[in-house]
Amino acid sequence: MNFQTSQPNERPIAVFDSGVGGISVLKHIHALLPNEQLLYVADSKHAPYGNKTPQEIQSRCFEIADFLIAKNAKALVVACNTATAAAIDAMRLRYQLPIIGMEPAVKSAAAATKNGIIGVLATTGTLKSAQFAALLESYGRNVEVVTQACVGLVECIERGELNASNTKNLIQQYCAPLLAEGADTIVLGCTHYPFVREAITDIVGKEVILIDTGAAVANQLKHRLVQENMQAGRMEKASVMFWTNSTADNAAQVISQLWGESAEVLVL
Ligand code: DGL
Repeated sequence: MNFQTSQPNERPIAVFDSGVGGISVLKHIHALLPNEQLLYVADSKHAPYGNKTPQEIQSRCFEIADFLIAKNAKALVVACNTATAAAIDAMRLRYQLPIIGMEPAVKSAAAATKNGIIGVLATTGTLKSAQFAALLESYGRNVEVVTQACVGLVECIERGELNASNTKNLIQQYCAPLLAEGADTIVLGCTHYPFVREAITDIVGKEVILIDTGAAVANQLKHRLVQENMQAGRMEKASVMFWTNSTADNAAQVISQLWGESAEVLVL
């Protein structure tokens, strides 16, 4: 199946992530651009990306982008901080269509903090990347930045275990160093983490501000579509289709759980 249409602007927007995390971004895109057809690929068989080399991540991104472009996508959203850091430059060299990426919200956190101490929860790959170092150089100079890689947390969310004790224990373990340093603002620097926002709030307290970039990415996408005159014109609410290569029996159920309604899920 691909989405052939005589009207180029009616082609779908494609969104992907190492797994189900990017659905947190997809929700913002769907809310802001309800007329746009959306395709989502969860590369769950290869999650997590956080401990892979940039070369491995690039080759996953190329394979998925080739698949989505063959489906007639008009724009691509890399709904993954880790993949953006590892592969977005190579993707922009390889493909002609608009490609939107994302990075941890250090800039917004630096603007929001009252006491000048911010925490960043992200994957090892994101925190080790040159892009993240550049981000700190640009926006982290006047604040104290405490970073924490959350090894194993993505896997819990992939299994749909948002409230399991194992998940809460990991969150407790990873937030403790940020709280010990006094962070009053925490960046959710991986698209999986907004799905455990409540569990994080329970641990860090309501007074700590949590910031993610889903809404900003949706805004940036909209801006780019307007700029390039690529917005869909149809008036009815458009469809959203999901693909996964997960081998888990409950893969479709987890996607529906995170999407918030029954989702049409195909095997990649
Ligand atoms: N959701 C991804 C991110 O935003 C990657 C998680 C992973 O696969 O390690 O970084």
